[in-house]
Amino acid sequence: MRDKTFLMIPGPTPVPESVMLDIARHPIGHRSSEFSKILENVYANLKYVFRTKNDVFVYTSSGTGAMCAALENLINEGDSVLSLVLGNFGNRWAKIAASRGAVVEKIEVPTGEVIDPEVLRTRLAQDTEKKIKIVTLTHSETSTGAANDIKTLCSIIREHGALSVVDGVTSVCAMECNPDEWGIDVLVSGSQKGFMIPPGLAFLVASERAWKVYEECKHPSFYWDWAAYRKSVQANSTPFTPAVNLFVGLNTALEMIKKEGIENMNARHKRHSLALRNAIKAIGLELVVKDDKNASNSITSILPPDGITVPDIRKVIKEDFDIVVANGQNELKDKIFRMGTLGFVCDRDLISAVGALEATLYKLGYKFDLGKGVATVIKELANK
Ligand SMILES: Cc1ncc(COP(=O)(O)O)c(C=O)c1O
Repeated sequence: MRDKTFLMIPGPTPVPESVMLDIARHPIGHRSSEFSKILENVYANLKYVFRTKNDVFVYTSSGTGAMCAALENLINEGDSVLSLVLGNFGNRWAKIAASRGAVVEKIEVPTGEVIDPEVLRTRLAQDTEKKIKIVTLTHSETSTGAANDIKTLCSIIREHGALSVVDGVTSVCAMECNPDEWGIDVLVSGSQKGFMIPPGLAFLVASERAWKVYEECKHPSFYWDWAAYRKSVQANSTPFTPAVNLFVGLNTALEMIKKEGIENMNARHKRHSLALRNAIKAIGLELVVKDDKNASNSITSILPPDGITVPDIRKVIKEDFDIVVANGQNELKDKIFRMGTLGFVCDRDLISAVGALEATLYKLGYKFDLGKGVATVIKELANK
């Protein structure tokens, strides 16, 4: 039987039926009063989800678009940018900064690890002339499943005086993230992750301090221009033709998020990722992120057992159970597989996924205590 695909990848993530049905309706005019009403609701609810008093911009793009929208409105040629890199997406910030002519320095950590706040503090303390203008960070590094302590790191950056520019693509909705309270200067995210809608929209929120730096940007981007987006948000409009149907779906999804409550949504993600981590350990597999406190709530990276390949695991779980798990990226391709617990995921999904993984490993000849993963996940989920 088919047509029951469960995307257990870190995006695109499963979409609720009510959201799908709303997206499927006829497009409406983007300058109509009907659409403006939807935007009014969307913009208000985004402030709730992003826990900010500042306007949240919505770009018709993938998450990388919002990353470009962040740096391309802040950097002048020759500016110094420090990029904190846990993996692929931390590196993406460095590449975007370099593409704008910035002088980029990186602090990198081995796979599965996170930035030590003391390392950052020491590096910034050496910058007595305050040359470093921007520090880029990733909250949840999707390529490894590690999550930085953004609150502490951003407070260190604030003490130094640089701007913190944070990738919250797989953390917003899934993990506590308080830009106003924690002094995050720019935070970006994407629709196909925790927001429970398909790919195509990206989000950005900027602090007052970031706006001051924007005002000194000699060549701000045209398509991503913050001023154009702020003006539009305040008029319940958009600067250009937006992905109208996705906004309609976003409106429905944001109402669902509000109903669940953002704190409850964060807690659900944490509960699911911890249950999954413990189930994986019970099955006898190794996790890439060793310490629970450094683990993302949205993605869990796992090493395959000896003698069984990642492509085989991904093939059997797809063919037999219609569950899609992600491969590793770049140098981690075929070395790890990644299971998402992001967005529209419930307890039933998790129990099924762990059961399907056990069945897959069993079929592939892995010797283990069959059923231990499912038993663990059931017990973990019972501790609400
Ligand atoms: C942490 C993180 N940052 C950035 C991106 C890039 O987003 P997109 O592929 O939507 O451009 C992703 C995508 O998976 C991500 O997980």
